[in-house]
Amino acid sequence: MNNYEYHVPTDIRFGRDQISCLDKEIGKFGNKVLMVYGGGSIKLSGLYDKVYKILNDFEIYELPGIEPNPKLSSVKMGAAICKQYGIEAVLAVGGGSSIDAAKHIACAAFYDGDPWDLVLDRSLVTRALPIFTVLTISATGSEMNPGAVISNEKTKEKLEINHPLLYPTLSVCDPSYQFTLPARQTAAGTVDILSHIMEQYFQPNDHAYITDRLSEVAMKTCIKYGPIAIAEPDNYEARSNLMWTGSLALNHLFTFGKGGAWSVHPIEHELSAFYDITHGVGLAILTPAWMKHVLSDETAGRFAMYARNVWDVSQEDDMTAAKAGILRTQRFFRELGMPDKLSEVGIDDSRLSEMAAEAIRTSGLSTRAYVKLNASDVENIYRECL
Ligand code: NZQ
Ligand code: ZN
Repeated sequence: MNNYEYHVPTDIRFGRDQISCLDKEIGKFGNKVLMVYGGGSIKLSGLYDKVYKILNDFEIYELPGIEPNPKLSSVKMGAAICKQYGIEAVLAVGGGSSIDAAKHIACAAFYDGDPWDLVLDRSLVTRALPIFTVLTISATGSEMNPGAVISNEKTKEKLEINHPLLYPTLSVCDPSYQFTLPARQTAAGTVDILSHIMEQYFQPNDHAYITDRLSEVAMKTCIKYGPIAIAEPDNYEARSNLMWTGSLALNHLFTFGKGGAWSVHPIEHELSAFYDITHGVGLAILTPAWMKHVLSDETAGRFAMYARNVWDVSQEDDMTAAKAGILRTQRFFRELGMPDKLSEVGIDDSRLSEMAAEAIRTSGLSTRAYVKLNASDVENIYRECL
């Protein structure tokens, strides 16, 4: 196994009614809170009122309206509120978009220039407000990691800011808050979780046996419980298993002793940057095409291992097993109700080469990915999905 440093400082409060700890925990840092949330699902579900009741003695400022694929303009608004009112903690109530905006705001609050500078140069991040989250959709793992993905509307860039100061201090993970999730969001979240595990699983390092086996169990958990959560939105067992898998999937547990750059995420981030589509939907479309593109005699062994250990494929020949595993993956995404063509989400061939060049420029695809890709590989993968 490769050398590895592992430190996850986030306090996770998992299970029903864990939200009741918020006043005590946030109170350790002060009583002026910026609450960051999305388009209104928390008002419909009653969570908004619940937060107000628990934080009764706090001075709460609000930044509502965080959109999926959170925008730099929202971050600027949030940072301005923090500076103007002396905010002492940021509380995101929602999914990855609200949490990511909250993280960027937390460090932009201590920076006088354009917050985009912090994305381009993380050495400029020197301080951050404490970040609290109440998670309402399992997908990104942002509740337990130091990353935030922000879209710059002007430049059409969607990039990650990643810094140890951006680990949430505490995350409330109550699976029952996901009972209100629509099927499409549950499906997109399940695909995102699976994709995070795959990105770390499909790496050249073959010596991290424990990491690979843990990853396979986590992938099987998504495959078992994703469809159940869609069919029975208030199934606590399904929601709770998916929830914990989502947090583990991106808190570096599944990359322990491995490493390397991710493959499908940078290709997808261009789709959601240029066309503002749902991240998990983009991943569902691209993943099987990426798998087919990189399958070769060299990679067949790992793909066959994936097929046998995750999908219970029994073919003895590696290449045959690998192909069966890819087919099962594609079918599973379809069964979840995900589209499998870019045309189904309104994307044509007009900007493929532009997006491919950006994917290469902004990632380690051409230097450190499982199979190194150049811009024409990426364009071909997009083209396969038309
Ligand atoms: O905005 P509201 O009204 O809250 O509705 C949201 C939104 O429309 C809805 N929703 C969330 N919880 C709900 C609910 N509706 C009903 N009941 C609930 N309990 O779901 C929609 C999607 O929410 P969003 O926060 O956008 O989803 P997600 O958690 O998938 O976040 C996606 C963003 O995170 C980035 C993605 O690129 C995308 O921008 N990522 C962040 C990562 C990270 N920080 O580590 C890694 C990921 O790979 C990813 O790139
Ligand atoms: Zn993702």
